[in-house]
Amino acid sequence: MFRNSRVTVCDVLVIGGGLAGLSAATAAAEAGKKTVVVSKNHPLRSHSAAAAGGINAALTEEDAALHIEETIAAGCGLCSRNAVEILCREAVGVINRFLKNGTPFQWNETRNEPEGRPFGAMSTPRTRFVGDRTGAALMQTAFEQAKKAGVRFEYSVFLIDLIKHGSRMTGVYGIRFETGAIEFFSAGAVILATGGAGALFDITSNGIGSTGDGAAMALRAGVPLRDWELIQFHPTGLYPSGFLISEAARGEGAILRNKNMEAFMGRYHEKADLAPRDAVTRAIVTELKCGRGFGKRGDFVLLDCRNIPPERLFARLPELCDLTETVLHIHPTTHLIPVIPTAHYFMGGVACDLDGRALDGIGFPVPGLYAAGECACTGVHGANRVGGNSLLEAVVFGTRAGQTAAAECADLKTPSSSPEAATEAAASFNERLTLFQSDNENSRGSVETPLDCRRELKEIMSAYCSTAHTTVRHKQGIAKLTLLNRRFARCRLKNGLGQPFNTELKDFLETENLLFLAAALFSAAEERSESVGAFYREDQLYAGAAPYHTATEWRKGRFLTERRPL
Ligand code: FUM
Repeated sequence: MFRNSRVTVCDVLVIGGGLAGLSAATAAAEAGKKTVVVSKNHPLRSHSAAAAGGINAALTEEDAALHIEETIAAGCGLCSRNAVEILCREAVGVINRFLKNGTPFQWNETRNEPEGRPFGAMSTPRTRFVGDRTGAALMQTAFEQAKKAGVRFEYSVFLIDLIKHGSRMTGVYGIRFETGAIEFFSAGAVILATGGAGALFDITSNGIGSTGDGAAMALRAGVPLRDWELIQFHPTGLYPSGFLISEAARGEGAILRNKNMEAFMGRYHEKADLAPRDAVTRAIVTELKCGRGFGKRGDFVLLDCRNIPPERLFARLPELCDLTETVLHIHPTTHLIPVIPTAHYFMGGVACDLDGRALDGIGFPVPGLYAAGECACTGVHGANRVGGNSLLEAVVFGTRAGQTAAAECADLKTPSSSPEAATEAAASFNERLTLFQSDNENSRGSVETPLDCRRELKEIMSAYCSTAHTTVRHKQGIAKLTLLNRRFARCRLKNGLGQPFNTELKDFLETENLLFLAAALFSAAEERSESVGAFYREDQLYAGAAPYHTATEWRKGRFLTERRPL
């Protein structure tokens, strides 16, 4: 049985402590609102800290105009132009703010400005960077600024579900890891900034914590996801784990090679190794399918950094040097690095307007709910995100969401999370979880563990719903997922529900979220009948699914994702 403990009341509650969450929280606090960030990990351990190669920022008007056009072109017709204009035009202000607050960007002495490096799909070197640890450097600054603005941090809280009062989202409840007690957070406005769900796949650049908790909470609360099936596979994950090998390597001159040592990208795209990510990933997958991969199973290609002068490599790609030395015991100045495409980024997420307001199925704001960063979908990335635009998006749209939430948050004198709503939510959670306890009278022995189910889920998603789609594969995947859900229902929790540091319960809840999001992903993928950007259908000529949902279908709540016309 869970013990109920604290209730935290604030004006603006931000769920997630990554770069989008910190940016939102700082903006809300600077607007004078009592702001709390609640997250399952310490903010500095958020996935934003793993972002490597840089943050895009055009420093002149002319280059900003180019940045806009190139982002839209890479997005394959699904970008919202308004969102892209905001993103690219606000970039210079973002860089100046981080510089002022102490981020040690690599400096170009001749031009007296932050150095820029080339990145995929871009024609000018506008990706500003701190080695290949840019995310970690920005996070450090953003965390300090949030603290300075008076934001309060509550971490090690695993959040379970949003709380509604009427049609308004008024808070969230979760379990504090150290105590095992249920806690409630009640707020005038709730901002989701929980990142992506890369943990759905066995090869991913994401940390194990990227389990899409915010997206799952939103869906359960009836808030739709848009473009959920548009997932970016980064071309260069370290083989076999999928750890990120930054695109910055190719920006600095590294070249992809197949087993004939051919620099094959020139055959696929005029920008060769710096083609848009979807094109590079598809080229690698094609090389592997054609039998031109390395290794016993021919399942990886090589990244050749030997033409980058060693001193430049050490100075600009220290993380890559550390990683290859630590994991593979090789050095990129002399050895080629084995790489494979790795699940990296969800372009889709909670449908949002340009000020971060979450939208319902027919496009109206959901009262009290906002979203930012990878868990949100403003349409800024279209069907294929440009490398270096995600850190920028996190800051630009995180800040906007924080400002909007601060301006619109409900007056807490009117009851927000009513005590009844909170108690009701906790009681039903307790009741549900009790069914999974091993001493439950319906239990037929502990036959499954959440982690076994999670492992199998990753295999299913990687085999049936990743870089190439067909209706046949979707149907096979859905059948396997249905069986897996039945197995998951037979999981039994051995630890008492209210125990502190209950990792078993955390695994269970995360896996439950992943299973839920996997079903949404299959449904969304099957609905998209065309190939676009990162979403590639091998059977598109034969797919008969209707591309758009009608407003009536939405109102009836039958669908999980939203379509935008091309
Ligand atoms: O390759 C990279 O450094 C990744 C950057 C990004 O996804 O924005």
